[in-house]
Amino acid sequence: MATLKIENLHASVKGREILHGVNLEVKEGETLALLGPNGHGKSTLLACIMGNPAFEVTEGKILFDGVDLTVLTPDKRSLAGIFLAMQYPSEIPGLNSADFLKASMNARREKPLSLFQFYNSLQNAYKDLNIPFEMSNRNLNEGFSGGEKKRNEILQMKLLKPRVAMLDEIDSGLDVDAMQIVSDSINEEQQRGCGFMIISHYARLYSMLHVDKAAIMINGRIVCTGGPELIEKIDKNGYSWIKDEFGISIDKEQDAGLNNVSIGVCATREATK
Ligand SMILES: Nc1ncnc2c1ncn2[C@@H]1O[C@H](COP(=O)(O)OP(=O)(O)OP(=O)(O)O)[C@@H](O)[C@H]1O
Ligand SMILES: [Mg+2]
Repeated sequence: MATLKIENLHASVKGREILHGVNLEVKEGETLALLGPNGHGKSTLLACIMGNPAFEVTEGKILFDGVDLTVLTPDKRSLAGIFLAMQYPSEIPGLNSADFLKASMNARREKPLSLFQFYNSLQNAYKDLNIPFEMSNRNLNEGFSGGEKKRNEILQMKLLKPRVAMLDEIDSGLDVDAMQIVSDSINEEQQRGCGFMIISHYARLYSMLHVDKAAIMINGRIVCTGGPELIEKIDKNGYSWIKDEFGISIDKEQDAGLNNVSIGVCATREATK
C-alpha cells in the first residue's frame, strides 16, 4: 500500500517562506481532513506536492511509494498517481475538454483507448456527475460556473483514477444536490482504495465522507492532529482555543520579508531592496 509522506517540508513563494517544516502522511484508502484559517499555507502545501513551479521547495521531502516526488515534473507526479482538484481551477481557452480528458487518460495506458471505450467512460462520468454531456465539447473550464468547475475537477478524478487525490475546497460553490453527487463520487473512489487529503472550511462535506484523521495547519506548520472529532471542535469553536491549548498565535504572518511600501514611492524598487 503506497503512502504519501511529507517530511519537514519548507517552501517559499517569491522569496517568502510559507511552509516552515510540514510533516504529514496519507496512506492509500485513508482520508485526511486538512483544516486551518485563511492564508496559512494549505493550498501552498498541495501546490508543492503537485509540483507547481511558482513554489520553491527549499528543504524536506515529498515521498510517494518511497520515491521522492520533488525531483519529478508535475506530469510525472500525476502519472505516479497523485491528483489535485484545485481551489481555483484555471480556464484554458483553446483546449477542448474531451480532447484534454482523452489525452490524460491515454497518457496512463500503453495502448490508447478505442473511441468506443473512451466515449463510454466519458458519458458515464458526465452522467454520474450530472453534468450535461454537451459540456465535453467546450473549452476546459472556460465560462464554467463556480460549481461546474468544481464538478469538472471530480469528473477528471473519476476518469484518471488516482492513488492519492488532494481536493482543495471542492465544496465551495456547490449547491446542496451537487455536494451529494460529489461526496458520492469521493466515497466511491475511497472504496476503490484511493487515499484523500481534503481541505474544507466546513464540517458539512466531511460529515458526508469517511474521515480517518484530521490535521490543522497554522502559520505553515501542522500544529495539531487527531481524529474526526477535531473537525467538530473547529466547527463549534473556531481556532481561538489553539492559542490557549498550544500557545500558538494564529495571527497570520504579515508579509514577512517584504518592506513596507506606500503609494508615492516606486513600489517594485522599494519591495526588492
Ligand atoms: N503566488 C503567490 N504569490 C505571493 N504570495 C502567495 C502566492 N501564493 C500564495 N501566497 C501567499 O501564501 C500564503 C498562504 O496561501 P495559501 O493559498 O496556501 O493559503 P490557504 O491556507 O490555502 O488559505 P485559504 O483557506 O484562504 O484558501 C498567503 O499569505 C498567500 O497570500
Ligand atoms: Mg487555499
